Amino acid sequence: MRGHGNGRFITFEGGEGVGKSTQLVRLAEHLRGLGFETVTTREPGGTPKAETLRRILLSGRVAPLGALAEAALFAAARIDHVDKLISPALVRGAWVLCDRFFDSTRAYQGARGGVEPGALALLEKAAVGDLKPDLTIILDLPPQEGLARAAIRRASAGARADRFEAEGARFHEGLRRAFLDIAAREPERCCVVNGALPADEVARVIRQLVDARFLDAEPAAAQ
Ligand code: TYD
Repeated sequence: MRGHGNGRFITFEGGEGVGKSTQLVRLAEHLRGLGFETVTTREPGGTPKAETLRRILLSGRVAPLGALAEAALFAAARIDHVDKLISPALVRGAWVLCDRFFDSTRAYQGARGGVEPGALALLEKAAVGDLKPDLTIILDLPPQEGLARAAIRRASAGARADRFEAEGARFHEGLRRAFLDIAAREPERCCVVNGALPADEVARVIRQLVDARFLDAEPAAAQ
């Protein structure tokens, strides 16, 4: 079943190295501290089958087939992720925090990859149906800073730049604009947070956003 249930669905979006993963963990700690069941996950990936597709996508092996083929494979990974993990968790009433979701396809394959909006909308509908995040936090950071952070993270992990990190400066500038455009088009769903602030400060801003939107009127989770 693909439903939303009583759970809350929050996605984190932005360019490379903006601090999404760190902030997602910080928010999960906050919510668990309040007694809520909280599931953390990521895209592409989140289930064994989708993680297999993630390895193929990030290796760059699909790139020669073009951005539409990449978008189709991201959508394929998303179908399994939504069916097996996100939807069941929301139906049980859990909070689901997801590192990237359909806005990444809109920004990377759509705005930057040039996939036609009609084709993207069809893939999106097929993958997620009517499921939409309740809140999307877009972390915004100048790309030079984000890429420098991603390079440090990679060096300490002994890894190489993946398919998308390896793109040029113009690609990453365009991505930043694409995420800001998404936020401007859907201000109800999306909040832009300044990723250049110290991590503790970013975490505080995000906690406040989430508390104000979902919790201030509600008691903490049932014990
Ligand atoms: P990841 O290592 O998770 O990057 P980051 O730490 O920046 O989130 O790799 C995911 C990459 O896949 C990232 O470069 C963005 C890209 N991507 C897309 O191009 N389209 C998508 O739909 C998704 C979910 C990710």
